[in-house]
Amino acid sequence: MSGILEGKRILITGVLLESSIAFHTARLAQEQGAEVILTGFGRLTLVERIAKRLPKPVQVLELDVSNAEHLDTLADRVREHLPTLDGVVHSIGFAPQDALGGNFLNTPWESVATAMHVSAYSLKALTMACLPLMQDGGAVVGLTFDAQFAWPKYDWMGPAKAALEATSRYLARDLGERDIRVNLVSAGPIGSMAAKSIPGFEDLAATWDQRSPLKWDISNPEPAGRGVVALLSDWFPKTTGEIVHVDGGLHAIGA
Ligand SMILES: NC(=O)c1ccc[n+]([C@@H]2O[C@H](COP(=O)([O-])OP(=O)(O)OC[C@H]3O[C@@H](n4cnc5c(N)ncnc54)[C@H](O)[C@@H]3O)[C@@H](O)[C@H]2O)c1
Repeated sequence: MSGILEGKRILITGVLLESSIAFHTARLAQEQGAEVILTGFGRLTLVERIAKRLPKPVQVLELDVSNAEHLDTLADRVREHLPTLDGVVHSIGFAPQDALGGNFLNTPWESVATAMHVSAYSLKALTMACLPLMQDGGAVVGLTFDAQFAWPKYDWMGPAKAALEATSRYLARDLGERDIRVNLVSAGPIGSMAAKSIPGFEDLAATWDQRSPLKWDISNPEPAGRGVVALLSDWFPKTTGEIVHVDGGLHAIGA
């Protein structure tokens, strides 16, 4: 039986450790027949070591989404390995420590600006960097944490995710005529490196134990990865500007 990404070429950002949502997305994408290329930020040798745990060998390209030269050269660097892309995964989030953990009222603009640049604007920057490789359309999928609500401790990542969600809708608006779909997975809490950098993340995650209709496991990034792979596939052909919740259903529960 062939996989749902058979014959597709997918660029995946955001692999850092095996706890990364991007790692599981890459694993599932390969299992579903895709050819995958990764980008890594900063600790390239670590990313390469983690990437060896994927079912098939992959290339890792360096990409800091706030580095204009990295973005400008990305398409050419991808072309050295793959001629075109059918999908791009944005699995990137960062906010400085003083923008997280209960310091919302005192965070300086510089820290907010960094969070917005790396976590929200980067969806547009990455998509445009990959556009020359997506002449026949494709799918862009990113990851959010439901920005409809103010969460404990999440602070300026909240407005950054709200900006990411809006950016995804505007990209969907402007890239529809090229048959490029842009969607997000809104994941429940997962104990990745990004999550552990939020002081008090455990308190936030505890909400899921109490209120999630489906049992939620913060140590398992696979459900979020499955959602991303589904949105990359041909099984959501007319879905764009959408946010699919992979959160155990918590978003639907009022109290
Ligand atoms: N963990 C959660 O609870 C959770 C829930 C919902 C959504 N998300 C989102 O999922 C995505 C992936 O996070 P994760 O939980 O897998 O954590 P992670 O720490 O494994 O991944 C975050 C990635 O962002 C990358 N990154 C940071 N700054 C960058 C930059 N300047 N350029 C390029 N890459 C950069 C890191 O290298 C890392 O690979 C993020 O958008 C995150 O906000 C996470």
